[in-house]
Amino acid sequence: LQTLPPVQLAQKYFQIFPEERDPIWQDPCEDKRHKDIWSKEKTCDRFPKLLIIGPQKTGTTALYLFLGMHPDLTSNYPSKETFEEIQFFNGRNYHKGIDWYMEFFPLPSNTSSDFYFEKSANYFDSEVAARRAAALLPKAKIITILINPADRAYSWYQHQRAHDDPVAQKYTFHDVITAGHDVPIKLKVLQNRCLVPGLYATHLQHWLSHYHPSQILVLDGQMLRTEPAAVMDKIQKFLGLTNSLNYHKILALMWKPLHLSPADPPPFCFSVIFYCRFDPKKGFWCQLLDGGKTKCLGKSKGRKYPDMDVDSRRFLREHYREHNIELSKLLYKMGQPLPSWLREELLHSR
Ligand code: A3P
Repeated sequence: LQTLPPVQLAQKYFQIFPEERDPIWQDPCEDKRHKDIWSKEKTCDRFPKLLIIGPQKTGTTALYLFLGMHPDLTSNYPSKETFEEIQFFNGRNYHKGIDWYMEFFPLPSNTSSDFYFEKSANYFDSEVAARRAAALLPKAKIITILINPADRAYSWYQHQRAHDDPVAQKYTFHDVITAGHDVPIKLKVLQNRCLVPGLYATHLQHWLSHYHPSQILVLDGQMLRTEPAAVMDKIQKFLGLTNSLNYHKILALMWKPLHLSPADPPPFCFSVIFYCRFDPKKGFWCQLLDGGKTKCLGKSKGRKYPDMDVDSRRFLREHYREHNIELSKLLYKMGQPLPSWLREELLHSR
């Protein structure tokens, strides 16, 4: 039997098993051997029991806000680095370890009832995030929200334009989604961020290879926009929460003005209906506060932008056709209803 000093031993080990260079964190309390060497000061009740995995631009922030109103649920502390989201499982933060992750959650008060959750919208299309999340949080519940992938792509493009991304400023949406191989790398990157997360069946399949279907809830993002209280009822049932919150009472529909000109009143036209011209489809749901005031999401959520051009819509319908068919089969196997937008897309596929 031979050995080496620790550092050399580690180097030798990773030479033989290079695939193990990337750590994989497991819940220390799931394995007695790990639990025994886990500090007595620490607790395994400081992990989330629910992950909202995205994808981006599907209404994840609205859902996060609505869940945060529930007395049984506690969200993570916001991260200063990554625009509030922790983004632990998908990227480099993972290497900061589980103590770093746990710091985003309060110290448990009364262990069994604490129900922490976090949302990081780019977990959805990250294969590694699914694997890592399942290793640390094997019993967690997972929520994903799906909207028409074409609309998701367009929303992302508009998001980038609003953030003055020079590529999104320079190229039209149609240019971006139809760009071939021989284009500037930055254009390709934007194209990927628009199109890849929308390959829903592929990404969902990754999560299903690590979590049992009963742990995953797929929400219809269109319904979250139009009937959030009904969606929240469904979620409360899925999570099996002790207290039931009446979301029909605490959410209020706000209307956004259709055309803004300098003469128009401020962005939200509460009860002054006669002042504004409304597009009923642009309504957004907000939190109703005591005294009748409301708290809506910031101006970056529910932006006003022109409708997608017909050529892009046609292109994307074709682009996602097979993936949407795959998604419908997957949802059928999972025993989950098809979102309304998917039923519509399937009708167009015939
Ligand atoms: P748009 O700004 O393109 O309309 P995310 O939070 O995942 O980034 O998603 C943003 C999208 O959430 C918005 O996209 C908007 O359509 C949708 N959304 C759903 N419910 C909302 C609400 N109550 N308030 C604001 N946006 C909402």
